[in-house]
Amino acid sequence: MQNGSTNNPIQKIAVFASGAGSNARKLIEYFGTEAFPKHPSIQVGLIVSNKKTAGVLNIAAEFQVPTLIIEKQPFFEGDGYVGALKDVQINFIVLAGFLWKIPESLIKAFPQKIVNIHPALLPKYGGKGMYGNFVHEAVIANKETESGITIHYVDEHYDHGAHLFQATCPVLPEDTAETLANRIHSLEHRHYAEEVEKAISKT
Ligand code: GAR
Repeated sequence: MQNGSTNNPIQKIAVFASGAGSNARKLIEYFGTEAFPKHPSIQVGLIVSNKKTAGVLNIAAEFQVPTLIIEKQPFFEGDGYVGALKDVQINFIVLAGFLWKIPESLIKAFPQKIVNIHPALLPKYGGKGMYGNFVHEAVIANKETESGITIHYVDEHYDHGAHLFQATCPVLPEDTAETLANRIHSLEHRHYAEEVEKAISKT
């Protein structure tokens, strides 16, 4: 059966991002898009952001991926944009530097179909306010010798769902938040798309 047929449709990912979007770029490069197909059965179909000025929107434009800018009230008090996501046949949600908590409406509509990447070894250094360089600053302040990444399912608590994957890297005595962030980004870029692919294959 050919991909794209009724029996084996393309799985469409929505990537949620609030920032520069380097992980979103890697996901797009790995899976492709409708305009630039790559993977036989998975595509990045939508970039969702809560920030009109986020760098990730330039990446979306580069690859002609449709975008959705979301607002607080409908996200947290409305349907969580479930209708808008279903309207464009989104099957799976990948958070890539997305800083808002995911509302219950969205979790219920996409059970075991939302994953996040966190730039530390959860359960350490997770929770509200723990993102980006705040995580790396805390890791360095605590004189950790090891950090890493965690890829996990999303539930109604910050950085809490079941883990899919972890990888570690050293924290060097001379590290700054920026040098550690670069090392962590390399790990993320190496692993995230493949782990997303594995998670989608389980759905
Ligand atoms: C990534 O390091 C990701 O792990 C982190 O934000 C960065 C986004 O970078 N996410 C969190 O801290 C979530 N708590 P990017 O915009 O270049 O992909």
